[in-house]
Amino acid sequence: MSIPKPEKRIAEFENFGFGMFVHWGIYSQLGRGEWIQHQAKIPKEEYERLAQTFTASEFDAHQWACIAKAAGARYITLTTRHHDGFSLYDTKGLSTYDAPHTPCGRDLIREFVDACNDAGIVPFFYHTTLDWHHPDFKNDFKAYLQYLRDSVEVLCTQYGKIGGLWFDGNWSRPDDDWEEDALYAVIRKHQPEAIIVNNTGLGARGQIGNLQLDSVTFEQGRPTPMDREGMPKYVAAEMCHTMNRHWGHGANDFNYKSLAHLIETLCACRRVGANYLLNVGPLGSGKISLMQEALMRGIGDWVRETGNVIYTAKPCGVDGEGKNFGLQDGDKLYLFVHDLSIVGDANVTVEHGGAGAKTFRGIPRKVASVRWTDCDEALNFTQDGDTLQIECTGYPYGKNLVVRVAEVTLE
Ligand code: GLC
Repeated sequence: MSIPKPEKRIAEFENFGFGMFVHWGIYSQLGRGEWIQHQAKIPKEEYERLAQTFTASEFDAHQWACIAKAAGARYITLTTRHHDGFSLYDTKGLSTYDAPHTPCGRDLIREFVDACNDAGIVPFFYHTTLDWHHPDFKNDFKAYLQYLRDSVEVLCTQYGKIGGLWFDGNWSRPDDDWEEDALYAVIRKHQPEAIIVNNTGLGARGQIGNLQLDSVTFEQGRPTPMDREGMPKYVAAEMCHTMNRHWGHGANDFNYKSLAHLIETLCACRRVGANYLLNVGPLGSGKISLMQEALMRGIGDWVRETGNVIYTAKPCGVDGEGKNFGLQDGDKLYLFVHDLSIVGDANVTVEHGGAGAKTFRGIPRKVASVRWTDCDEALNFTQDGDTLQIECTGYPYGKNLVVRVAEVTLE
């Protein structure tokens, strides 16, 4: 038995490390999440009227790309069509329930892809497989699957090279044949390099599916290490999370995770080599709220402050105590240290403890030096075989990174 080598595109996807998920559609105008049609049992005709007020008046794809970039995200996964069946792209006559047929009158996916390409961000397309709108979904499933494939073909042929397709909804009919091979064949035909994901949902996190799939998902979960021993193919892992408790805009959802929590979660993902796909839910107008923008930007500040090490450094069997862990990138190890305190004048610093000796095991070679990535301070250390103890200094007054990264140079 052995661990398969990742194909090039999958290795590249893993190096993206962090992505921005975007849930946006006509439901965003209601500010009650993307499931509101279903949850509130809104009659079809009434819900469809949301298309008539969809103006996308504040949608600025460049601004989205700019926020993603500032956040350190390397890709954006956007809901091109969600469960309500409405498409942000020009379906080329497959349906009139799409953005060009609303007052906004534009192909929003065109603008999205162009802005991503300009900013050097890789565009990914979320696409529902479950459909509350198309009558065939209930009445003639085979015909519906053809409509789904035709829709995906439009996405694969109209926008140049895309990063990947992210499907969601097969969990709604677990016993039916979704003709997955035929769907993925459409993608492989036009976009051989695209990453294909099919969300296994809340009930089956980390589950491996069809051989064409390139990554497993951990929706709203905790990333666990993947055991790839003996797998027919190397698959990546991605964990998607909301910032508050909704994917689509929740106007009255104030239950936001803290920036510290988001930073720790990004680290927890990278600890097991998983990508972190963090969601924003723009307003109906297309604007990303200040709160969501600020959290995104805060993550980027942390990424840069800690030396951009989250992308290519990989799990290597180095582990610390508790949440602390190590990653490797060539001749360097990166040790992620949590819960350090600020040191200094007792009249102003309210945190105590945290700094001091931290132990890491699994160090592969002799260590030459250790320093923080956010400053050039060298750290004292002692090594005993594969065990390394570093003397962690606390944060100087003026700084608290939540997770601080020490760079270890190996001899
Ligand atoms: C779920 C939901 C959906 C959301 C998705 C994101 O499967 O049905 O609304 O888009 O998770 O992971």
